[in-house]
Amino acid sequence: MFRLVDDTSVEMLKLSIEGGEYEVPVGISVAAAVLLCGFNKVRNTPVTGSPRLPYCMMGICFDCLVTIDGIPNQQACQLEVHENMAIEIQQGAAELLPER
Ligand code: FES
Repeated sequence: MFRLVDDTSVEMLKLSIEGGEYEVPVGISVAAAVLLCGFNKVRNTPVTGSPRLPYCMMGICFDCLVTIDGIPNQQACQLEVHENMAIEIQQGAAELLPER
């Protein structure tokens, strides 16, 4: 659905999504990375379990909540990717403050 414009000067970094390894451009949002890597959801809703994708891409709709590096409820459209980031699809409601 989405693909990179051919540009060999773009710096890439490695991260994981649902345990799979991917290379994405430095500086893009987590939401853009998930879409670029071909995922068809970033979370499931707590009530019906229906899949959701980023919608507004500007921090308004909260349809992009994901778990990043073990911390749930992260707005994927508001966070920049970093090397070795571990992104997981969020299943339903998550604890607000996970135990550490
Ligand atoms: S896509 Fe709407 S808040 Fe992130």
